[in-house]
Amino acid sequence: MTFLNQEIIKNKRDGKVLSQAEIDFFIQGITNNTVSEGQIAAFAMATYFQDMNAQERIDFTQSMVNSGDVMDWSDMDLDGPILDKHSTGGVGDKISLMLAPIIAACGGYVPMISGRGLGHTGGTLDKFDAIAGYDATPSNALFRQTVKHVGCAIIGQTANLAPADKRFYATRDITATVDCIPLITASILSKKLAEGLDGLVMDIKTGSGAFMKDRAQAQELARAIVDVSSVNTTAVITDMSQVIGYTAGNALEVYETIEYLTLKKQEPVLHELVLTLCAEMLVHGKLADSLPQGIRLVNQALSSGKAAEIFAKMISALGGPNDLMEKPDKFLTKAKVIMPVLPKQSGYIKQMDTREIGMAVVELGGGRRMATDKIDYSVGFSQFCHIGDNVDKHKPIAYVHANTQQQADIAAQSLLDCIEIDSDTPHLPKVIIQRVS
Ligand code: URA
Repeated sequence: MTFLNQEIIKNKRDGKVLSQAEIDFFIQGITNNTVSEGQIAAFAMATYFQDMNAQERIDFTQSMVNSGDVMDWSDMDLDGPILDKHSTGGVGDKISLMLAPIIAACGGYVPMISGRGLGHTGGTLDKFDAIAGYDATPSNALFRQTVKHVGCAIIGQTANLAPADKRFYATRDITATVDCIPLITASILSKKLAEGLDGLVMDIKTGSGAFMKDRAQAQELARAIVDVSSVNTTAVITDMSQVIGYTAGNALEVYETIEYLTLKKQEPVLHELVLTLCAEMLVHGKLADSLPQGIRLVNQALSSGKAAEIFAKMISALGGPNDLMEKPDKFLTKAKVIMPVLPKQSGYIKQMDTREIGMAVVELGGGRRMATDKIDYSVGFSQFCHIGDNVDKHKPIAYVHANTQQQADIAAQSLLDCIEIDSDTPHLPKVIIQRVS
């Protein structure tokens, strides 16, 4: 069936319900360039104001999935479920690095396609790029073989995975139409569903370091994703009002991952998030009967060393070093200046402006202002305190890692501006806020 692009835009603008054929026509036009950038922008803005009903959201998402390849694992003889997790992004969010090998250690397969940092949030791919030799764009054959033989592979988006989303997102990004629930839902799900999954867990973050700062918006997105997804999906709304774990910055987060998986240091908030999200995935994949059993299996995968072993195997299968776990210093760059950030007054950390902490990492060179910016993998913060921790002139809020003294001083001042200290012990935020399934 053929349509006029401008008629489809007009129908959406006037609040009409689009048919599946109209949506397919428009998405195909995005992929094969018969829809112009101006038309994408107009469609996105019309959707922003008019929304989509439940069926339109499903059709729109499916059309985006079908704009490229959908992975088919049926010829790989995998003896477990294919599972993945997606996070809406945070600061210090390194959960995928632990989660993928843990799920593989428990019998699942994780073909994770991940993204680069966006705005103040760090990207999983940038963390892997901090590891010398790791190839986040391997051949399709190597990616599939790694998933089969190691159990997980974390790579970047391939050209033919939901290509309509790539074009659509680029236009949304410059036309104030990113924050639109049906568009976010289709954008996230199209890339994940194209992985050929059996189950998906969404980590929807809310709080000062999240894109969805507002709880009601996070709930709306959670509901939309669960309703639209064509595979078994649970969304977990989690707290992003403080830096996750002890580090923020690419190489530093890889260090923390190694320490976490080898049981040297496990920050409690990060651990609770890892346990919860992994347990949800294991239940989805029928690898656990219940969340408590899932948590037991995750703890076993960690304490037996199996998850650490799988992480090491994945790194080396994708071109990284064979001895990263033993000699991280040899492969991860270190900043020239490492300096404690001491509070101006002693007391308890009451709250943080986590978005601005993420921006301080970007300012240090650890993230991008523009897509073409080069990243300095060595910079960021380590030994980060958490809400409720006591700090004083001997107990720093964090250590800043920078490559010049001037950058270190600026980042330290920015961090001090982001942290509120109080003399009373504060109320600790709930880490797992809500589960939507
Ligand atoms: N991340 C995505 O991949 N798409 C969106 O629309 C928003 C965040």
